[in-house]
Amino acid sequence: MSRSKLLFGNWKMNHGPKATHEYFQALKTKLEPMRARAITGTLSFSAKSVGLFVPTLCLHQALQDAAELKSSLHAVGQTTSPRNLQELHVGAQLAHWAPNGAFTGETSGPMLKEIGIGWVLVGHSERRQFFGETDQTVHRRALSLLEQGFSVMVCIGETLGEREAGQTAAVLSRQVDGFLGGRELAARFAPHLARLSLAYEPVWAIGTGQTATPEQAEEAHEHIRALLESFLGPNEIAIAYGGSVTPENFAELLRKPSIDGGLVGGASLKVDSFTTLIDILGRT
Ligand code: PGA
Repeated sequence: MSRSKLLFGNWKMNHGPKATHEYFQALKTKLEPMRARAITGTLSFSAKSVGLFVPTLCLHQALQDAAELKSSLHAVGQTTSPRNLQELHVGAQLAHWAPNGAFTGETSGPMLKEIGIGWVLVGHSERRQFFGETDQTVHRRALSLLEQGFSVMVCIGETLGEREAGQTAAVLSRQVDGFLGGRELAARFAPHLARLSLAYEPVWAIGTGQTATPEQAEEAHEHIRALLESFLGPNEIAIAYGGSVTPENFAELLRKPSIDGGLVGGASLKVDSFTTLIDILGRT
């Protein structure tokens, strides 16, 4: 078995339901010609997942549009070869660990499941930076959501100050240990590893236009991979890179052996650039 590849957009607090619908309409037009290329073998999406983490308010709209997109990609009479893009996953940017309760503003796993959401992003640096997310709450969210059957992408990454102080490896070690809940609790993740992925997102590269070099990213990914092995044993957990990924730098990042995809903010907001990223993933 080898690791799957991932491309997820993260809209953050952008695009309301109307813009979501328009985005998917435009995406459908763009993806049609790509289907033909997947059938002839120029592009392949087998063992690759593509999706979007959208604002909570837009989840319902995005799911409806993604279902329509799926049926149009698989229109009657067309092959459903695994080389085709099978579907576009819709994910939530946040979910609470408790099934319900007095947690104003939060959304629970059962609520997301009820409308058909299967993916959740956990521990994004903006949650850590602006909303008090800690390694411990990241652990609680990740474990609970995995146990509820979700596919979970956990974000980690160092700040500029930490990198400049030579603490990158130490910070990543603390964050991996933190989200797994230490060596004792890491075993509870073991049954769910097929649905766990990570995103290495150096905070200094997010939304700044300053991408980590492929070498810097690769070094961090190798370190994270070694940590995951030491906590969980041999595994196939995919690690995406995030931080100013664009159509200009994505192919080069993907060429690195430890980089399994991208988590993309700014460049996922426009259909043109996100489609180009999907195309690059298909050619890799
Ligand atoms: P960016 O955001 O691509 O705009 O840098 C990435 C992220 O925060 O997930």
